[in-house]
This record gives sequence, C-alpha cells and structure tokens, in this order.
Amino acid sequence: MFMEFPHIADKMPAGLVVTDPQLEVLYMNNHARKAIFGLHHGQDGGAAMLRKRFYTTNRHTFDMSGCMQEMIAQRQRNFQKTLIMKKGDEDLLIHFTARGFTSEGNDYYIFVLTDISEEMDCVVHAPGSFGREDFVLGKRIIGHDEKIRQIYRMIRLAADSMVNVMVTGESGTGKELVADAIHALSDRQKKPLVKVNCAALSESLLESELFGHVKGAFTGAIKDRAGKFEEAGGGTLFLDEIGEISPSLQVKLLRVIQEKTIERVGDNKPIRVDIRIIAATNKDLQELIRKGAFREDLYYRLHVFSIHMPALRERPLDIPRLCDHFIDQSNINTGKQVRGMSREAMRLMMEYPWPGNIRELENAIEHAFVLVQGSLITAEDLPGSITTYRAEVQIETRAGIPPETSDQVRQQGHQDHDVPGIRKSPGGRLLISKEQLAALLRQHGGNQTQTARSLGISRVALWKKMKKFGL
Ligand SMILES: Nc1ncnc2c1ncn2[C@@H]1O[C@H](COP(=O)(O)OP(=O)(O)OP(=O)(O)O)[C@@H](O)[C@H]1O
Ligand SMILES: [Mg+2]
Repeated sequence: MFMEFPHIADKMPAGLVVTDPQLEVLYMNNHARKAIFGLHHGQDGGAAMLRKRFYTTNRHTFDMSGCMQEMIAQRQRNFQKTLIMKKGDEDLLIHFTARGFTSEGNDYYIFVLTDISEEMDCVVHAPGSFGREDFVLGKRIIGHDEKIRQIYRMIRLAADSMVNVMVTGESGTGKELVADAIHALSDRQKKPLVKVNCAALSESLLESELFGHVKGAFTGAIKDRAGKFEEAGGGTLFLDEIGEISPSLQVKLLRVIQEKTIERVGDNKPIRVDIRIIAATNKDLQELIRKGAFREDLYYRLHVFSIHMPALRERPLDIPRLCDHFIDQSNINTGKQVRGMSREAMRLMMEYPWPGNIRELENAIEHAFVLVQGSLITAEDLPGSITTYRAEVQIETRAGIPPETSDQVRQQGHQDHDVPGIRKSPGGRLLISKEQLAALLRQHGGNQTQTARSLGISRVALWKKMKKFGL
C-alpha cells in the first residue's frame, strides 16, 4: 500500500508538496506540478524544482515561500492562507494549508494547495480591475461554503446585467456588501453608488430625499435640490430596508421604475433618470404583501433578480475563515499581533447560533481584541453571549425533560443552573459551597475549563472561587 503512495498522491485533486525546514522540495505531486506551478513534462517535469528551494526555483512561489518562512519562524505547526499566484497570464487563487511534522527525528513540512479560483470566478472573469480589487481578490466577501459560492455566481450575473436586484436575508448577513460588489463589478462602477436607508427617515423627508424638491415646495425648501435618484444617475441606487416604505411612496417608486422618470417634490416636470436599483430587506416581503403592507406589483418589479443571503449558522464551516479575516483586520487596526483563537474559543464560536450573523461575529472579534493578552484569543476574551450560550441551552433542555427527572430541577426554582443543587443569586452570582465545588471538580476529573463551563461561568471566575475556598 505504502509503495503506491506517490501513485495515489498523483491522483489527488489538490497539490501536495513536502519540504524540509529549509524549504527544499522533497516531494511534489502531479497536480502541484502541472495545475498549480504550470510545469510540464518535457520542460523539466518539475524535476528542477525538486531538491531546490521554493523561492529560488519559481518566482511565482515567492509569496508562498514568504508565508512558509513566517510559519517556520513562528514555530507554527499549522498554517493556512489564501494567496494569489500567477500561472502564465492567469491569476490563480490558491488556498494553502501547511503542517509541520517530525519523522525519525527530522522535521518536515507538508503543504496542501487547492486552487479556488473557480469559486471566485465571479470575480476573476470580471472585466477591468481597478477599484474592484477587493472583490476581485475575494478579500471582501469571505466564505467557501457552496451557498456563498452560489452567491458569487449570482453577483456576477447581476453585475453583468442591468436588472433591478432584491437582496434578502437576516440582519448582518452581508446584504449591503452584496450591493457594493454588484456595483463594483458592473460597468456602472465609475458612476456613483448612492445608498438610502428607507427606515431612517419619515415619509415626507424620505420622499424629498429620493426625488429632490424645488424651491418653495414646503417650508424650509429654500432652493432647488436634486434627490438621490438624480444623484445616482448612470450608477446604482441602493434602497436599504425597502420593506419600510409607505404605500404612497411605493406607488411613486413603481412609477420611477416603469417610466424611468421622476418629478421633484413641488414640480411636475419629468426628469429622466438612468439608474439600477438594488433593494434590500430583512423582512419577509411575501408576508407584508399578504398583510397588504407591500404592493405586489412593486415586489415583482424589484424582484426581477433576487439574492438570498444565507444565515451564518447555515454555513458553520465558514466561521473559522471569517474569524481569521476579522483577526487580520483587527491586527491592522489595533497594531496587535494576534495569531488566532484557542481551541476552546473556536469551539464556542462554532457552537453559537449567531442570530446577528456576520456583523455579530465581527463585533465579537473586536470585543476580544480589547481583552486579549497574548497572541491567542481565549474563551475569556469572548463576549458573554457566546460563552454562556451553551449553559443556557442546557437549562432549556432540562426544562423540556420528562417530569420524573425534571422534578429535582423544578424544586430549585428558575434560578438554577445546569448543576443540581447549585444556584445563582438574582444578581447572577454563583451560590456554591466548597464541598459542591470540590465534588464538581472531581466529577470533571479536575478539568477547570469543563467545570467552569458546566457552571456557566468563565474560567477566571472559577479560579477566583477556588482561591476563595483554598482549593
Ligand atoms: N461574507 C462576508 N465576509 C466578510 N465580511 C462580511 C461578510 N458578510 C458581511 N460582512 C461584514 O459584516 C457586516 C454586516 O454586513 P452588512 O452591513 O452587509 O449586513 P446587512 O445584511 O446589510 O445587515 P442589516 O440587515 O443589519 O443591515 C459588515 O461589516 C460587512 O462588511
Ligand atoms: Mg444593511
């Protein structure tokens, strides 16, 4: 079996490279050689690359070797990064994971290289490049889940067309980011992207904001003023929280879409406008239609092309990637040098259901950056909503268990925590005796993290209790 290893590795749909700590290539499979580094049989079959250092052999691997050196310098055993590499004229987006290992006393590094350009193809095939960089490089919309890849495809299709787009999804799922991407990738990118939050203004203010007004149209209208429709001329108008607009404005909006003309408030001279509308909402518009709060004809006009953003809990495998992304950003913003998250912290992040989606995750990382001490974010650095989530779920599960077993729980009243006999004061302080705590620690084999978790308190809080009791 082992003898066949190179043969099997050549069948892998990913690049595999093994090096020594000096980055001398000891082994490289077929996929790495051909699909990633673009070396062909006859040329040198990749042989030249073997036993040579990555960065001296192929300038395109320069960035990657930089990352590898970084990994080695930081003595990290696991490392991953996404890099742009050039293969001929092509830009490849390569995700690489690396791991150090020791075998018979020697150190080695193994690299798995996956070409993810296809997933980002909305971007890679978009014409032109300036100003679109962030989206082209997949730097802004992070995610490898199939659901997000589908979103990339939809964004590209929308960008290539002129149709109005409706973006739906829960709060914080990235609806505005999608509007940014569509505009940046469309041929309207040099014209303005104008954003209006329909929930932020009263009906009459919103009307004059959108349509503009002429002098004397109402008290305070001291001169003619163009509205957002005109401002967005040739470009894109982003109407956020579209579910909030009043019935009379809905009629006016419908007219703009159908006739492509507007009238400023207080005037009846039609002005032609050339805009693409991207609307967004976290409301269920179908439901609003049933209730008579949203016009069905407008709905269909806006819904020509719709993009639904998945909730973060529907794509949990993107959580670590998003954490990395926001850690990178916070490192830049704060000048700290955080390398990642502890295993425990990451586990909590993965378990949490993220009702506020990516915005909540972004805030959680920013919160952690305020508290973090060393180079790893630990569970104690995370917001309480995340660290106590599991404990709350456990209480709920208990409330749902059959009467015989839940009796004990019920007798303790609604202040109980997970552990029978242990209560919390109304202020949330843990009411526990020395014996109870000692027993609980024994029950968890002395593991403080698990004990703290079972009590729904942080490890620091547990340490304080233990110290107080002299445990
Ligand atoms: N896939 C993603 N990758 C990286 N950052 C993201 C992603 N999706 C969202 N974000 C970030 O999360 C935050 C919230 O995104 P955005 O404002 O687009 O959400 P939204 O759906 O418009 O929310 P709301 O309905 O509350 O207005 C922003 O800071 C955005 O940059
Ligand atoms: Mg928004």
